[in-house]
Amino acid sequence: MKSIELFAMRRSRYELTNKIPMTDKELESLLGEVIRQAPSAFNIQSARAVVLLGEKHGTLWQIVHDSLRAIIPADNFGPTAEKIKSFAAAYGTILYFDDTLSTRSLQGKYPAYAANFPVWAEQANGILQFAIWTALAEVGIGASLQHYNPLIDEAVKTTFSLPNSWKLIAQMPFGVSVGEDTEKTFLPLAERLQIQK
Ligand SMILES: Cc1cc2nc3c(=O)[nH]c(=O)nc-3n(C[C@H](O)[C@H](O)[C@H](O)COP(=O)(O)O)c2cc1C
Repeated sequence: MKSIELFAMRRSRYELTNKIPMTDKELESLLGEVIRQAPSAFNIQSARAVVLLGEKHGTLWQIVHDSLRAIIPADNFGPTAEKIKSFAAAYGTILYFDDTLSTRSLQGKYPAYAANFPVWAEQANGILQFAIWTALAEVGIGASLQHYNPLIDEAVKTTFSLPNSWKLIAQMPFGVSVGEDTEKTFLPLAERLQIQK
């Protein structure tokens, strides 16, 4: 398959089931290979991924539920609760982090680029998210990209015993998708692409 066909297969999929068409071991090996191949500035490899399955996946969405419930009035909470329930219904969630210790060590080593490293860390993380999202689509696993950070950061780190230096960047619930893909709209390419000679 051509890479562009694979890119087109990746969509945001929200109606997910708690199934995947492979074993957890196969999933781990697929994700491991994608993590190895995703590029990063100076090859620092500071992106981290934590795959939550089973009860841990449920615990994450309970954390999101409780964190949001604390700031959204009860009479407005219905739609939020439904959305969270749909993420909890998935097979698992991939948490994406940047290990800020690695990023900071590069800032010390290359002071001239110090301001760029946190930006590059986010970019590299986005590249990894896209690569995993696409690789999952290729094997028939739907996913979406969520951002409940920084609201849930402390609870996530404590609950899943993760290092303090890891900065949460995104959450990706995944599972076999049962919904129809919505139609995607595109801006005119002329606004977005120029070829200059
Ligand atoms: C950087 C980034 C942040 C996003 N954040 C969210 C998010 O917080 N919640 C969500 O449901 N979708 C999020 N999305 C998904 C976009 O809304 C989606 O990719 C876009 O509408 C195009 O649709 P597609 O993914 O089906 O191609 C995000 C996508 C990107 C690239």
